[in-house]
Amino acid sequence: MAIHSNLISLLFLATAITILTISPPTSAATRRPQFNVVRFGARPDGRTDSTRAFLTAWTRACGSRVRVIMLVPKGRFLVRNMQFTGPCKNRSIFVRILGTIVAPNNIWTTGNSPHWIEFHRVDGVTISGGVLDGKGAALWACKKAGRSCPNGATTLSISNSQNVVVSRLTSLNSHMFHMVINFCHNVKLQGVRISAPGNSPNTDGIHVQFSTAVSIVSSKIATGDDCVSIGPGTANMLVDKVTCGPGHGISIGSLGKDVNEQGVQNVTVRSTTFVGTTNGFRIKAWGKPSNGFARNILFQHATMYNVQNPIFIDQRYCPDRNCADQVKKKKKVTHFFCVFFCYA
Ligand SMILES: *[C@@H]1O[C@H](CO)[C@@H](O)[C@H](O)[C@H]1NC(C)=O
Ligand SMILES: *[C@@H]1O[C@H](CO)[C@@H](O)[C@H](O)[C@H]1NC(C)=O
Repeated sequence: MAIHSNLISLLFLATAITILTISPPTSAATRRPQFNVVRFGARPDGRTDSTRAFLTAWTRACGSRVRVIMLVPKGRFLVRNMQFTGPCKNRSIFVRILGTIVAPNNIWTTGNSPHWIEFHRVDGVTISGGVLDGKGAALWACKKAGRSCPNGATTLSISNSQNVVVSRLTSLNSHMFHMVINFCHNVKLQGVRISAPGNSPNTDGIHVQFSTAVSIVSSKIATGDDCVSIGPGTANMLVDKVTCGPGHGISIGSLGKDVNEQGVQNVTVRSTTFVGTTNGFRIKAWGKPSNGFARNILFQHATMYNVQNPIFIDQRYCPDRNCADQVKKKKKVTHFFCVFFCYA
């Protein structure tokens, strides 16, 4: 049976103003010099390891004084883990992906990096189009069988960066999280598609933490864990017109895992659709002593079909059933201030 709830607005406490300044990609972008990965030896055959070619193309693009495009043309490009590091000479790099970037098929390890594709310390990068295929199935099967397996990798990580746009990018079957935004300012994800089976382990859609002014708009997320998870140190975040399902819903947390922890504040989640998810809106906190908090949170306008827990505030989050410290100590509590679920 379908549950249909319409959630509408309520009030909001304002303490400061942050203005998002992201300029949309212009057609002028097409006239920029291009660094095509094929020119640096990448092969669109889905089999040849093109990692080195991608890294060389990035180094050249990042070292350019003028605005450039790093181009991944049509075809399938096999790459292992890569870190695209800044700062770059010119702040504005356009990474245009027309084809599909694929990970190795079998179980492989990303070495010391927990990420497959990482943008680190960049400013002013736009990543547009294309498909990232993480080929996670072999790793999920290994984990399910209880064998010893590598941890797996985040498909796309953006860290210590600012003024980044990710537009119309598709992520398929990640090992672990599909996308992670960590220590960033002003990141806009729009028209993103994420897809993995509902029973794939730990394949969170988009995880945000220690970041300000992040927005996720007009995106569709189907996965095996949280569609969006919002961790400590997140502020001024907007989630708008996102569809979630299958998945575990849109979550704030988990919070209060550490004694000293940054809070989550000014998060708006609106115009969302949930289909067949375990949760709708959720806030999860460990119930341990902590100064962590969630403040000025607004969930509004949601449509939910077949959602087990449409709204769920869990102050004793304990996924592994091993939380002795939770029950013993009376002084627990993660503080929740001004959390609004708005119905109409
Ligand atoms: C970046 O390149 C553009 C031309 O493409 C140029 O006008 C601009 O001054 C450059 N910016 C920097 C910081 O060099
Ligand atoms: C809250 O976050 C939004 C972005 O979602 C931003 O536009 C707004 O200015 C922020 N409000 C405060 C008080 O910082």
